[in-house]
Amino acid sequence: MNHEIAFEMAVSSIRSGAGVTREVGMDLAELGSKNVLVITDPALARLTPVSTVLESLEHNRIRFELYDRVRVEPTDESFHDAIAFAKQSPYDAFVAVGGGSAIDTAKAVNLYTTYPPADFLDYVNAPIGKGLPVPGPLKPLIAIPTTAGTGSETTGVSIFDLTRMHAKTGIASRRLKPTLGLLDPNNTRSLPPEVAASSGLDILSHAVESYTALPFSERPLPERPALRPAYQGSNPISDVWSLEAMRMVSRYLVRAVEDPSDDEARGRMLLAASYAGVGFGNAGVHLPHGMSYPVSGNVKNYFAPGYRSDHALVPHGISVILNAPAVFRFTGSMRPQRHLEAAEALGADVSRASLIDAGKILSDRIIWFMHRIKTPNGLHAIGYTSSDIPTLVEGTLPQHRVTKLSPRPASPEDLAHIFDDAMTAW
Ligand SMILES: NC(=O)c1ccc[n+]([C@@H]2O[C@H](COP(=O)([O-])OP(=O)(O)OC[C@H]3O[C@@H](n4cnc5c(N)ncnc54)[C@H](O)[C@@H]3O)[C@@H](O)[C@H]2O)c1
Ligand SMILES: [Fe+2]
Repeated sequence: MNHEIAFEMAVSSIRSGAGVTREVGMDLAELGSKNVLVITDPALARLTPVSTVLESLEHNRIRFELYDRVRVEPTDESFHDAIAFAKQSPYDAFVAVGGGSAIDTAKAVNLYTTYPPADFLDYVNAPIGKGLPVPGPLKPLIAIPTTAGTGSETTGVSIFDLTRMHAKTGIASRRLKPTLGLLDPNNTRSLPPEVAASSGLDILSHAVESYTALPFSERPLPERPALRPAYQGSNPISDVWSLEAMRMVSRYLVRAVEDPSDDEARGRMLLAASYAGVGFGNAGVHLPHGMSYPVSGNVKNYFAPGYRSDHALVPHGISVILNAPAVFRFTGSMRPQRHLEAAEALGADVSRASLIDAGKILSDRIIWFMHRIKTPNGLHAIGYTSSDIPTLVEGTLPQHRVTKLSPRPASPEDLAHIFDDAMTAW
């Protein structure tokens, strides 16, 4: 096998500052947009971030419509609903206001209305879908995150739950990246503490996973540059962003969760989400995310506190972080130095640490955050038992795009062991 020789950095433009939401109308006017679809979820539709966007559009005399039926943790069915709505008018730009659920839905709407595929799964990651490349440039999409968060405003990834498979999958292409992300700390003021906790732990895991991922130079060399995946493996550019995101999470996560009026902490967490987005958007994530997809897809009766939703759901950040400590205990032996550096960036004292303990030290530090901001104590606490492990393993195996980036290859037996280890966190 010829090994990869290069890595590249692709990222949306990002503008950050309190009040920048009001600028969106001017941005769309500069882009020449005349008919805009604003995409959000039903709870946010009644809150200030959305009303600020709509006022800005009115002020700049831009015609728009509001689609407010985004499903929290979207599915193929909820994507279909949004795409069908968007097909009713020839929109020339999109604005997503919300968390990853709204931004990812807007990315799919942009793709499926601009280049409608023969079959819905054509663009979806292989082996679940055909993984066909996006044929050309998409329309402008401005992403305004209201969680801190997924970093979806910086990435070319759109994630949804394929209902009949009971697992999440996604579409990945640099062409899905929003044109512009507007980071406005005013938009996260109303975030329920449980959502701030879950989405903040998502940032933490994006950063640690991308930093510990298989190095880019151990992937195969693609035939053409266009076939180089967005998830390239860890590399010197993504390292910078991921490490800094960990340092920011270490300083500001607990403050942002415990005191929603802490403007500085909220602003820093919004920036940390985008930093980690640049990190994992160019390096990729690995087992904690790959294993999270069946954890969220097989949810039974768990209704997450703080999430005003009419269906049972495991919030994305929770489904990821519950696996993370067990994963890093498993992977620590492969890139121990990196695991220790991650623990240090998250605030652990590693001055007397030995490399043999690297995985455990990183896991213990992550558990410290989980405990402090009151996440459920392991997979047991959200309704899973050891009899679910075969289903969870089966749902992880097709997630090649991410599981292949694990620094230590995981067999089905290894995955079963890790899920078992993740049943209780502390
Ligand atoms: N595209 C990517 O790169 C990427 C990365 C990670 C996760 N994701 C996906 O993103 C989704 C999760 O997104 P999320 O964690 O940002 O949350 P979310 O969009 O699912 O929203 C969570 C809840 O918080 C509420 N909410 C959001 N902002 C609020 C605010 N400012 N005030 C009050 N309530 C608010 C929403 O109404 C909802 O009930 C998952 O589907 C996940 O798989 C995507
Ligand atoms: Fe994530």
